[in-house]
Amino acid sequence: MSIEGKKILLGVTGSIAAYKSASLIRLLVKAGADVQVIMTSSATDFISPLTLATLSKRPVLQAYFDKQSGQWHSHVELGLWADIMLVAPLSAQTLSAFAQGRCENLLQATYLSARCPVWVAPAMDLDMYVHPSTQRNLDLISADRVHIIPAETGELASGLYGQGRMAEPEQIFDLLEKHFKSGMALRNTKVLLTSGPTREAIDPVRFISNHSTGKMGAAIAEALLNLGAEVHMVAGPSQVYPKPNPRLKIYHVQSAEEMSVQAEQLFGQCRLAVLTAAVADYQAAQPSEQKIKKSSDELSISLRKTKDIAAGLGKIKKAEQFIIGFALETQDERVNAKEKLNRKNMDMIVLNSLSDAGAGFGHDTNKVTFLFQSGEEKSLPLLSKAEVAIAISEVAENWLASGQGNR
Ligand code: C5P
Repeated sequence: MSIEGKKILLGVTGSIAAYKSASLIRLLVKAGADVQVIMTSSATDFISPLTLATLSKRPVLQAYFDKQSGQWHSHVELGLWADIMLVAPLSAQTLSAFAQGRCENLLQATYLSARCPVWVAPAMDLDMYVHPSTQRNLDLISADRVHIIPAETGELASGLYGQGRMAEPEQIFDLLEKHFKSGMALRNTKVLLTSGPTREAIDPVRFISNHSTGKMGAAIAEALLNLGAEVHMVAGPSQVYPKPNPRLKIYHVQSAEEMSVQAEQLFGQCRLAVLTAAVADYQAAQPSEQKIKKSSDELSISLRKTKDIAAGLGKIKKAEQFIIGFALETQDERVNAKEKLNRKNMDMIVLNSLSDAGAGFGHDTNKVTFLFQSGEEKSLPLLSKAEVAIAISEVAENWLASGQGNR
């Protein structure tokens, strides 16, 4: 799958690098893409809408409403139309609007409405680029699963030398092409995803649970959806859920038992299972039907092990199925993770360590190591959960593309 026939929304904002948008449109149109340009008003100070309209073979959109023709440009429709939204160049101003969810022009409204993957190529002067607030905004949109094409180092329009130059159109084109190519293997592939914590009732009012927010699961759902997968997500009560998508079905559950029943029911139809759920290890042996009274100073509750969903699925796994699990360890990390990988018959386990700053529950970042059945390992640096999710999806995709899934 290439760029041919793809619908690309290209946002152009006010930066001198807007002149590069012309070459980028040429490359995309030549490759057979359908390019719809949206410009901010300050972008028009840098390059003429006529130039971009001529190259893209479509009128350039600048406002919700075209006063001359009376035509209304729906940001919602634009957001649904696109296979990908690319903002190149992305100015510091539009970056901060995206980071804050502001909605002051057609481009910003379309960004908020877009269900497709969003890519941005920032361009600004050296000091603006390295400013902590710019870097903070980049982190924020990255946590919102925007793909950032980092600015390059070189001579800038100001005459200063440093990082801030927009990536070259050829490089952006290559990245988009890779994005569309890689989307093939997972297209319409059914994936089972468990996510969030579980709640094990002690009585009608209290439960045993853990700190899982569901962020990692939501990020993985979105990464898989972006690659064309059909995601069946079995989610415990979470704080974060993926954006709605026609290829996403969420099955809400509470307890490990409910999650297990639902996951086992779905697993048979799925090629891939990604088990991010922080399933409670113990449940009350006998949950009380009435609220337990505060009568004695001490209270003992007898607990019994919950069913290990991953191990259960590992037992019934067929040759064409692939299971990715997670291990959150605080000590003897590798040894414990490897033991789990084998015992639960997983194909890969994602080890994250609570001892790494920025990793684990509630954070937007994660530091993980992939451990494979083959003994191979891959350690990733501290990344946003969205980036970790993309890396995990790429492993699944490579596995499917390699034909191993067709055994
Ligand atoms: O044994 P541990 O809980 O550390 O294993 C973590 C992995 O196993 C995760 O992928 C988690 O989703 C899965 N798991 C499960 N059912 C359980 C416990 C863990 O699916 N009861």
